[in-house]
Amino acid sequence: MSDVLRFVEDNLGRFREELYDFLRIPSVSAKSEHDADTREAAEWFGQRLQEAGLTAVVHDTPGHPIVVGEWRGAGPDAPTVLIYGHYDVQPPEPLDLWDSPPFEPTERDGRIYARGSADDKGQLYMHVKALEAFHATGAELPINVVVLAEGEEEVGSPNLVPFVEARADELACDVVLISDTGMFAEGLPSLLFSLRGLAYFELHVHGANSDLHSGEYGGAVGNPGNAMSRIIASLHDDKGRIAIDGFYDDVVEWDAETRSQIAGLPHSDKSFAQDVGAPGLIGEDGYSALERLWIRPTCDVCGILCGYTGEGAKTVLPNHAMAKVSFRLVPDQHPDRIKELFEAHVAKVAPRGVTVEVRELHGGRPWKASPSGPAFEAAGEALAEAFGTEPVLMGGGGSIPIVVEFEEKLDATALLVGFSLPNCNLHAPNEWFPIENYEKGIGALARLYGKLGSLRG
Ligand code: BES
Ligand code: MN
Ligand code: MN
Repeated sequence: MSDVLRFVEDNLGRFREELYDFLRIPSVSAKSEHDADTREAAEWFGQRLQEAGLTAVVHDTPGHPIVVGEWRGAGPDAPTVLIYGHYDVQPPEPLDLWDSPPFEPTERDGRIYARGSADDKGQLYMHVKALEAFHATGAELPINVVVLAEGEEEVGSPNLVPFVEARADELACDVVLISDTGMFAEGLPSLLFSLRGLAYFELHVHGANSDLHSGEYGGAVGNPGNAMSRIIASLHDDKGRIAIDGFYDDVVEWDAETRSQIAGLPHSDKSFAQDVGAPGLIGEDGYSALERLWIRPTCDVCGILCGYTGEGAKTVLPNHAMAKVSFRLVPDQHPDRIKELFEAHVAKVAPRGVTVEVRELHGGRPWKASPSGPAFEAAGEALAEAFGTEPVLMGGGGSIPIVVEFEEKLDATALLVGFSLPNCNLHAPNEWFPIENYEKGIGALARLYGKLGSLRG
């Protein structure tokens, strides 16, 4: 192991330069104008896998490619670890809010600023470098490895489930290892016990067949803006709960042990609010802020479109309103059931004079780990050795819908070991990743691979 870690230590500068090449490719999966860039990122990544001693295939899909790398030198009796991540990134807009260009990685204050540095190219590439260290030093890697990198995570992974189903044999593994989440705080390595699911909709409200003069028609003809506001206002009660009939039916109450672990984390509501510049915190009565983020479901309007929003006053009665409404889900909620409940609720509360329509955007199920067992312990030890402090357990407020699918379709345990920090600006302007975590994390992953060898037998 010491050779491997020394190799990592000696090559950190190059590892960073290579990551910058990866980050320069604008692999924005949501925008077709970037289709060629997204493919380029897939091919670039496949080549780096090959240099690290794996075989790599870039598979075409109806959308963006899926890259699969393999190394099976540990033999059929050794455990197999599937490393999953994504090489696509969120759109960088609004560009004028970036202090340096999103696709020109820039180091400032020990941070790598670039779109995708934290989510997820930086974290995905750490695995490639940890694998390279074994290959380059000839050290024994005690696990077989499959690396699966997709280019559609940020658009709901539409082609990944069919891919995993069709290739379940090739992807068979004992553990799915994912670095696409964060640490609780700087210097505090973390293991995840959960991820929230997602049910995301577009809600359309239609009125007359054209916009109308608001004086000639207002008051007698239904206004989709007014109606939308009433519908949105009906989604929560005054205790911060979601006021949709049946919404909590499948919500599992978390065990007392996890809740007391959450309560023991070094957290202050006041500085949390200050960090994001919010005047105060909100949420469901009876739960702490961290519980509201990790183990309770939410409903959020992510966007609204309606009527005249340009300069000055225009007296107009709009004929259409649209809102993007997302629900973060917790075990055992299911996005299909939430869709039925949401549709029924909207139909029930929609005022007269308008018609309403719910369109599904994407969804995914929540994930809950049993945070124990040999793989979990190996990860805890590897993180403690690399960061010099014991990891904490935390929940994930975000969603990686494929995690449950991996566990079920491949009959494997998922292990989520992430290295971004809470204020890394994922999906926002000025996304960054800490250089310290990039470097210590590569060492942690190399140690973890070494320890996972004893999973079997
Ligand atoms: N890496 C994130 C998910 C994440 C971030 C989980 C931080 C936990 C903590 C992932 O790339 C992501 O952004 N997922 C989307 C869902 C997807 C279906 C578009 C999300 O959570 O909004
Ligand atoms: Mn991600
Ligand atoms: Mn993301």
